[in-house]
Amino acid sequence: MNVLILGSGGREHAMAWKITQSHHCNQLFVAPGNPGIASVATIVDLGVNDFEGIKSFCLTNKIDVLVVGPEDPLVNGIYDFMERAKIENGWKGFVVGPSKEAAQLEGSKAFSKKFMQRNAIPTAGYAEFTKDNFEEGKAYISQHGLPIVLKADGLAAGKGVVISETHEDALHAFEEMIVNKQFGKASSKVVIEEFLKGIEVSVFALTNGIDYKIIGHAKDYKRIGEGDTGLNTGGMGCVTPVPFMDDAFMQKVEETIIAPTVNGLAKEGLVYNGFIFFGLMNVNGDPQVIEYNCRMGDPETEVVMPRLETDLLSLFAAMDNGTLADTNINFADGYFATVVAVSGGYPGDYKKNIPITGLDNPLPASSLVFHAGTKQDGDAIVTNGGRVLTVTSKGNRMQEAVQQSITILKDIYFEGINYRKDIGYEFE
Ligand code: AMP
Ligand code: GLY
Repeated sequence: MNVLILGSGGREHAMAWKITQSHHCNQLFVAPGNPGIASVATIVDLGVNDFEGIKSFCLTNKIDVLVVGPEDPLVNGIYDFMERAKIENGWKGFVVGPSKEAAQLEGSKAFSKKFMQRNAIPTAGYAEFTKDNFEEGKAYISQHGLPIVLKADGLAAGKGVVISETHEDALHAFEEMIVNKQFGKASSKVVIEEFLKGIEVSVFALTNGIDYKIIGHAKDYKRIGEGDTGLNTGGMGCVTPVPFMDDAFMQKVEETIIAPTVNGLAKEGLVYNGFIFFGLMNVNGDPQVIEYNCRMGDPETEVVMPRLETDLLSLFAAMDNGTLADTNINFADGYFATVVAVSGGYPGDYKKNIPITGLDNPLPASSLVFHAGTKQDGDAIVTNGGRVLTVTSKGNRMQEAVQQSITILKDIYFEGINYRKDIGYEFE
C-alpha cells in the first residue's frame, strides 16, 4: 500500500515509524513532516489543509491510505472531500478519519454533549450558552457548584477550557469568551459543565462506525510543572499501560462508553472510518467522558504505537473493508513511557530556531526519539515549536522506562530545553 500521513508532530513521526514496519507498506509519504520523519518517510511539501494539493498528490502517487494526524483537516471536511475524489477523479484509496459531520464530536463541545446525552453515555452535566442567553448563563454560573468548567464550543488549540474555583473567575472567563470573543467564533457558544473529580486516562480505538477495536490507552501529563502544577500544555509525557486500567475497568469503559458511542454513530448515520480518542475521567472506579477527539493523541501516540504489536496497515484495511471484528490486537509486554522536551518558556512565549545537539547519539534498542517541533536549517536541526521532541522507552517497570528516557534526554541539548522528570510519578 502507498500511504500518505498528514501532519508534522511527534504523533505523525510515531505513526510513520509504525507503518514502515508493515510488510504491506510500499511507499510512505508524510506532509508536511519534519526532519525526524524524513529519516523514515518521504517528506512532501504540502500543508494539512491544502485539500486540492493533497487530492492531486493522492491521485498522482496512487495513495491507498490517507491517514489524517491532526483534527483541523478532519473538522474542515477532508474525509468528505476525498470521498468526492473517489467519484469524480476515480481515487482508489480511503481516508483514515471521520466525516466532517462526525468530526463535530471534537469540533463542537455542544455537539458532543448532545450526542452523549442522546446515547446515555456517562459525562458531566452541562448547559450551553451564546450571546443570546448571556444573562441566563450568568445566573446559571452564579448558582452552580464549584469548581465549574467552561469550554469554548469550537476548536481552540487546546486552550478553550477554563476550570474556575470561584464564581467571580467563572463569570469573568464567560464574559471573555462570549462578549470579548476570546477564541473568536470558537467561543461564540460556551458549554458550562460540572467538574469531575478523578484520574484522567485516554483510550484509543479504531472504528468504522459499526465495529471497533481498542488499540491502546495512556495517561497523559498535561501540566508544565512537576507534581502536575502550572499551566496546561499539549502534553508533557505519557505512560502505558496504566495500572488501574484492569479488565474490570476496561469492561465498564467498553460497555458504558465505547459500544454506546459506536452504536450511536451507526444509529445517527454519522460516517466514521478512523481513530476515536476517548478522554475519560475515572470517577471512583466509574469512567465518564470528558471529551472525544476524532484523531490520535499527542504524545499518547508515541507510547500507544510502540506498544501495539498488530500491523497498523492491516488494521486500517480491516476497518475499511468491514472485517475489523475478525482482527486480533496484540500488545507488547512491559511498560512504555514518553517524556516530551519543550522550548524554554512554553506554554507561554518561546524562541524558535535554536540548534539541537545530541540527536545522533546512539540509542538503546528499547528507546526511540520522535521529532515534534523541529526543522532543518542547512546542516543543523533547530527548534520549531513548543514541544520539540519526545523520547519513548520501554521497561519492565514503568519507572525504568521513564528513567531511560530521561537519561537519553540528558545528552540532547538546545538552549532552554525543559522536560518533566516525574512522568508516571504515581506508579512504580
Ligand atoms: P478538554 O479540552 O475537553 O480536553 O479539556 C482540557 C482538560 O480540562 C481536560 O484534559 C481535563 O483535565 C480538564 N477538564 C475538562 N472537562 C473537565 C471536567 N468536566 N471536570 C474536570 N476536569 C475537566
Ligand atoms: N495529548 C492530548 C491530545 O492530543 O489532545
